[in-house]
Formats: sequence, structure tokens, C-alpha cells
Amino acid sequence: MRGRMMMVVVVVLFGFGMAEDYRPVVIVHGIFDGPKQFSTLSRFITEAHPGTEVEVIDLYDHVSSLHPLWQQVQGFSRALTPIMTRSPAGVHLLCFSQGGLICRALLHTLPHHNVQSFISLSSPQAGQYGGLFTPTQHVNNNMSTTQQWQPKNIQYYLISQCPLWEELMKRNIFHICYNRFGQRVSICNYWNGKHPSPRPAPQRTLRVLVLTSRSPPPDPHHRERYTFSSPRPAPQRTLHPHHRERYIVSSSFLALINAERPHASAPGWKENFLRIRKLVLIGGPDDDVITPWQSSHFGFYDGQENIIDMRKQDYYKEDGFGLKTLDSRGGVVLCQRSGVKHTAWHSNYSVFTGCIAPWLT
Ligand SMILES: *[C@@H]1O[C@H](CO)[C@@H](O)[C@H](O)[C@H]1NC(C)=O
Ligand SMILES: *[C@@H]1O[C@H](CO)[C@@H](O)[C@H](O)[C@H]1NC(C)=O
Repeated sequence: MRGRMMMVVVVVLFGFGMAEDYRPVVIVHGIFDGPKQFSTLSRFITEAHPGTEVEVIDLYDHVSSLHPLWQQVQGFSRALTPIMTRSPAGVHLLCFSQGGLICRALLHTLPHHNVQSFISLSSPQAGQYGGLFTPTQHVNNNMSTTQQWQPKNIQYYLISQCPLWEELMKRNIFHICYNRFGQRVSICNYWNGKHPSPRPAPQRTLRVLVLTSRSPPPDPHHRERYTFSSPRPAPQRTLHPHHRERYIVSSSFLALINAERPHASAPGWKENFLRIRKLVLIGGPDDDVITPWQSSHFGFYDGQENIIDMRKQDYYKEDGFGLKTLDSRGGVVLCQRSGVKHTAWHSNYSVFTGCIAPWLT
């Protein structure tokens, strides 16, 4: 009798144990960070789902995160494969910022992966255009000279002295990125110029730059003060009609994983990607780094810097890498939150409970 009771207890306990067996969560960090930045998120996960194995892959940390993305994909693939092998029920991938692009490339190129949920946390899935030089709170007009010329401050210093610097960089960095030397830096692997719009360009007014000797105080947030509009219409053309073609031809990473440039592996990559059950895209308007922020939801600019949503993008409509198929079977979740800065996504508890925890079972 007692033996039978024991067995019932054991079976009940075992049953509960099974129900709470959460799949391992593998975290891939973003640019210029490493495992340390994810201790809060790891704690959120193990508190919400006790017993979860959380693995933050310690590779290409900090400055090493500038290595070309394909090289990083190989490294992360070697780290992820054994975790998947010892977890036959599958794993979840939670990838932040640039890490979200590394993870997507992993999902395309690993033929037997068992990733269930792929959570893309504020990741420029449609590319990045600008935003890298956002001064945020760092602009300080009275930095000492030694501070100004430190590599980490030089951008901020230049922006504070020349408010148009950021705009100049944004407009011209494609000269650096869109060739094979630029493609050896991770950021250039997902740099994406504006796409010319198929619609006719709206009437534009010509903006004239006026530089006065009485220079206004440098304030990057009030660039408008430096310009006035004249009613003369500009010629009807998009601003950079060739960026799109140069991106397609030169991008050795994003244009391939988005199947925007046709290649022989694309059908296989699509099939691999479609092994996931859920793609969770998290982002929001106050991010301040991902530009446009909608890139975290697969949206991007057209030639006039209007946002074209994911479902109206060619790569969605053509379904070259499986996004449309995944969406049509209910596998795409868009999670938008306001009031979250780029570096706050992974430590924000309400983001965790609303956008992350439901998909980590
Ligand atoms: C400029 O320097 C002074 C003292 O060195 C400091 O009190 C002040 O806050 C600084 N200004 C800014 C904008 O940081
Ligand atoms: C956390 O996220 C919420 C939105 O879910 C936002 O309103 C809040 O400002 C965020 N807090 C921080 C510190 O980022």
C-alpha cells in the first residue's frame, strides 16, 4: 500500500517536473557588448521559469564585435550546435541588436537546427541607415582637448562643433561600406542606403544652407535653424537613386540573408529558417540607435525616407527567405514598446513580461 502511494507521489512529481521543463535559452549579444550586459535578463528568465538553462555566448565581445558578420556566424554556430544537440526538444534564441542578424544567418545556414522561438530584440533586420552617430547625452561642449581626441569621443566632439557632421556621415558612409574593404566591418554588413521610391517624388522645396559669421551655439537637435526654404521646386528625382543598386551588389551579408540578391543557396536557407515556430520582433520609436527603428520590425525607408512596413516590402512579397510564409502561418509576432532606449531593452522588466517571457516555454 505504502509502496503504491510512493509511486503515485513519484509519478506526480515527475509529471510536474516534465511540465516545467523549459527549453534552454541561448542569448547572443549586440555590438560593443558581451555577456555581462545580460545578467539582468538571465535573472528575469530564471525567476519567471525556474530551472531554465540560460547560456549567453561569450564570443566576439566588445571591439571584436566589429569582425565581419559571416566570420562571427561561424563562431556562434560552433557554440550553438552542442547546446542544440543535447536539447532534443529544441532551444530558444534571444538575440540583441547586431546579434539578431547573426542569429538570423545561423537560422538560415544551419540545416538541422531545432530553434523554436527566435526573439529579435531591437535588431536592424532590414538594415541600418544613420543613427550610429547619435550624440545622445554625450555631447559636452567643454570636453578637454585630450578627451575630445579620444576615439570614443571624437564623433561626439565633431557633432557638437558641426551639427551637419552626422548628416554628412550618414549620406556618405556608403562610399566606405559598399566595397569589399568596408564589408570587412560588421556595421557595413547591414548598412542600407535609402531605397528609391516607385512612387513619383513629391514637390520639394530647395533648402539653402546659410552660414553666418554670428554662429549660433552648436546644438545638433536644432539643425533647422541653419536652413530656410525657398519656393523653388527641386528637380523630380530621388536623392540617391543608386544606393539601392549598390547595396544589392555590394552587401555581402544582408542582401543575401534577405534574398534580395538571388543566390543558389536561397531556397535551402529559406527551408532552414522555416524550421522555427515563432519569430518575435521587438522594437520601438524611442530606441535612438536602430534607424529607422521600424527596421526592428522589418520595415524600412523608401527614397523619400517614408517608412514602408514589413508586409509591403519586396523581400516580404517575394518571400525569398520565408518571412511571408512564416507570417501566413501565424509565426510572426510584432511587439512595439515606447519609452525604451536601445541599451535598456534587455533590462526592462515590462518588455520581458510582455514581449519575451510568453515565447520562452
Ligand atoms: C563644463 O565644465 C564645468 C566645469 O569644468 C562644469 O561644471 C560644467 O557642467 C561643464 N558643462 C557641461 C555642459 O558639461
Ligand atoms: C520599460 O518599458 C516600458 C514599456 O514597456 C516603458 O514605458 C518604460 O519607459 C521602460 N523603462 C525603461 C527604464 O526603459
